[in-house]
Amino acid sequence: MSDPYLRLESLRKSYDGVTMAVDTISLDVAKGEFVTFVGPSGSGKTSTLMMIAGFEQPNSGKISIRGTALDVLPPYKRNIGMVFQNYALFPHMTILKNVGFPLKMRGVDSGERDKKAAAALDMVGLNAFMSRRPREMSGGQQQRVALARALVFEPDLLLLDEPLGALDKNLREQMQLEIVNLQKSLGITAIYVTHDQSEAMTLSDRVAVFNNGKIEQIDTPLNVYRTPSSLFVAEFFGDCNVLSGKMVSTRERAVGLDCGMTVALERLGQSFQDGEKVSAIIRPEDVRLAPKSAKDLSLQLHLNHLIDYGSYILALCNLDQVPVRIRCEKYQRDLLEPGKDIKAFIAPEDIWIVSK
Ligand SMILES: Nc1ncnc2c1ncn2[C@@H]1O[C@H](COP(=O)(O)OP(=O)(O)O)[C@@H](O)[C@H]1O
Ligand SMILES: [Mg+2]
Repeated sequence: MSDPYLRLESLRKSYDGVTMAVDTISLDVAKGEFVTFVGPSGSGKTSTLMMIAGFEQPNSGKISIRGTALDVLPPYKRNIGMVFQNYALFPHMTILKNVGFPLKMRGVDSGERDKKAAAALDMVGLNAFMSRRPREMSGGQQQRVALARALVFEPDLLLLDEPLGALDKNLREQMQLEIVNLQKSLGITAIYVTHDQSEAMTLSDRVAVFNNGKIEQIDTPLNVYRTPSSLFVAEFFGDCNVLSGKMVSTRERAVGLDCGMTVALERLGQSFQDGEKVSAIIRPEDVRLAPKSAKDLSLQLHLNHLIDYGSYILALCNLDQVPVRIRCEKYQRDLLEPGKDIKAFIAPEDIWIVSK
């Protein structure tokens, strides 16, 4: 990135001096960018966020905004807004006072505080609730208050750690759109932690996939989905089928799958040696059902079970001994008879090869 806004350089953090919670993370974030950290629990997402915010100190590495080192500044001088899963509002204060609190900490006088807090509440659609207390608000409303409080002092950076984790699905989707609209209209740079892949897809310009304190891949959500850099990323970010196989010829890009199929691929995830064991990643929507009458198709699968989600049908099949999931459309229902064999094919461009 030619002109990074936020820069993390080789950040390392160990709490116990033995295991690395954050293991040499480097990352450049552009001004106005929305970056999401995804990864399993314990992979170092929160620890990285806490170091950016200044609530934890790295063992080594550097954090800077626009080239200015942040490491030396205490949290309140970093001008960073934070939103957590558990809102963390003061129960005895009105909504208006809650939102104005960061301004009080910054020495802003009371009249100006209320004015700015009211404007921030307006932004999240809650100016009618200013004199209520947190307990008189729903979970979604409380989270909007927390968001207003994080934005009221016009921070350089907004950090959100699983902010919607406590909300139900419909409200979560609505809030996701509100957050991203607000972030874009304010032009604020944001980092968002979630373990939910669909949330990452909705929100992010780029996604960083965390595993064991490292970033395994950082790219647009669609590139991470279509071209995962490893088996771990493929399995974490979206549903996938994994067929094992062997690189027959790197020169001809020919991969022999254990199920008997040999495919010539246009795209390979990494460089491989001839004879190397590999995994073929195939997304469930990329296995295409063939009509019953079709001849000469590469795959014959045994259909074990159907899950009808209403909007689509998931067919749980076996290809030899390997489980394969196929996402089918409703209109294909009459091709699907559990207990019978079905025919399918996979286009070579829908197969992505990574190291085993
Ligand atoms: N305050 C802490 N003290 C000791 N260990 C911690 C602390 N916070 C996190 N850890 C450990 O650091 C690792 C990374 O945790 P965390 O950053 O919270 O991951 P995530 O947010 O991805 O779930 C975990 O092994 C966790 O147990
Ligand atoms: Mg966490």
